[in-house]
Amino acid sequence: VLVSSTPEQTAARAAGAVLAALRRVAGRDPVLGLATGSSPLGLYRELGRAVERGDVDFSATYGVALDEYVGLPPGHPEGYRQVLLREVCEVVGLSPDRLAVPDGSSTDEASLEDSAAAYEARIADLGGVDVQVLGIGANGHLGFNEPGSALTSRTRIKRLSDRTRRDNARFFSGLDDVPTHCLTQGLGTILDARRLVLVATGDTKADAVAAALEGPLTASVPASVLQWHPDTVVCLDEAAAAGLR
Ligand code: F6R
Repeated sequence: VLVSSTPEQTAARAAGAVLAALRRVAGRDPVLGLATGSSPLGLYRELGRAVERGDVDFSATYGVALDEYVGLPPGHPEGYRQVLLREVCEVVGLSPDRLAVPDGSSTDEASLEDSAAAYEARIADLGGVDVQVLGIGANGHLGFNEPGSALTSRTRIKRLSDRTRRDNARFFSGLDDVPTHCLTQGLGTILDARRLVLVATGDTKADAVAAALEGPLTASVPASVLQWHPDTVVCLDEAAAAGLR
């Protein structure tokens, strides 16, 4: 657990943890797991600066999204494929052809189940995720694994909690426009990544961070599965760390 005094320092340390994990990869193209939301934006900008300095090159790296909304039309600006194209591909030079995002464009349950299974197969074909970037929900969710998610779950359809829909309404014109369902990597899928790097800043995350890191390992706090992973780096600012003892 690395506590920094500012969000900028938090982002820089998280970027360091990501780059160190990518440098360990030998003999195949690295696979970087990507969260959306506001928490990792500073980290992605830090990676962009590392590219500008010539410290790293993402042209051979695969990007793998954590989750995607269900039912948004392809190309919707808040769909996570579009968000990751803007916030990651354009910023660090990762090729759009190498970005994998679950296909949530259908609203038919059987097609969505096929998309979820295809996504697990895609990750396996790539050789697994080398380092997964994560944020944490104020309710302790990880990806879109809301409280109550099975600790060994795989990529699947999930209903978004009211809290998460309200939290994400800021990205849409209003609450009614926020999708009700998503496809998300499961907690078991996330735990398969070789390293996890979680970024949390601000006091709205303090309770969730404390529950995840110092409370019991429980499906009521999905992010508590971090305690199970042998290589997790948690990057916090002081506000997000305020609940830790
Ligand atoms: C994003 C994701 C979510 C967010 C979480 C925090 O792909 O899966 O778990 O990481 O909701 O969101 P922000 O960072 O916007 O507070």
